[in-house]
Amino acid sequence: MTDFDEINPIYVRELRIDDIAPVYHLGEELFTSDLYPYLYRTWDEWEVIGLYNTDPEYCLVAETDGELAGFILGTIITKASWTYGYILWLGVNPKFQRQGVADKLVDKVVARMIEDGARFMLVDTDPTNIPAVKFFNRKGFGNIRQHIFLSMNLSKHPYYGRLIDYEHQKAERAGYKRSRPAIRARKADGGANEIVINPLINDESSPI
Ligand SMILES: CC(C)(COP(=O)(O)OP(=O)(O)OC[C@H]1O[C@@H](n2cnc3c(N)ncnc32)[C@H](O)[C@@H]1OP(=O)(O)O)[C@@H](O)C(=O)NCCC(=O)NCCS
Repeated sequence: MTDFDEINPIYVRELRIDDIAPVYHLGEELFTSDLYPYLYRTWDEWEVIGLYNTDPEYCLVAETDGELAGFILGTIITKASWTYGYILWLGVNPKFQRQGVADKLVDKVVARMIEDGARFMLVDTDPTNIPAVKFFNRKGFGNIRQHIFLSMNLSKHPYYGRLIDYEHQKAERAGYKRSRPAIRARKADGGANEIVINPLINDESSPI
């Protein structure tokens, strides 16, 4: 690590607008559905854009030789008389892992949070994420509490079924409308034609 530090020092700085896309893509590479399904589902570009807007002082990147080595995104929560620092996302480019990058990012964000009144730090991750659990343990985070996530496949939900039926009926009606030319009825006196309104086309029924 000493050689690496001397040749290509890790430089930690605040996230800039140009970092948003690279940070998002690095997160996509790290938070994969096979390894960490919950992290995968909740990671998107709005996480980066949103936190960059609301908490820029706790959004940091590490770079080395102009290359993105890692990022940390955090926030502060104030509850009654307590102020908590919360690390929401932390990721290190696999090329630079085990070289102290996360260490530097966490140290810097924690220092900033202490300056801003935080007296307690929070972090969460997937229980199977051994590198992260070991990393945070080593940094002094403890008192692990398991938290369970429940999920439901909404394609089995009755409202979803009703919505699909409604969409099918709508598509059928649209097909029916396209396949039939407009029907024109003759007036009894054989005068000008008049469009007969198709009651199906004007049906305003809703899926609910
Ligand atoms: C967890 C993570 C951020 C650690 O980053 P890092 O820069 O490699 O960590 P550091 O080099 O600063 O710290 C290394 C220490 O963390 C722990 N650690 C890191 N990776 C580890 C691994 N694969 N296995 C076991 N321990 C590991 C060890 O205690 C290690 O110390 P050691 O090298 O002396 O054994 C990185 O592995 C990562 O980006 N993982 C994918 C994203 C993720 O899970 N983020 C956290 C949840 S949001």
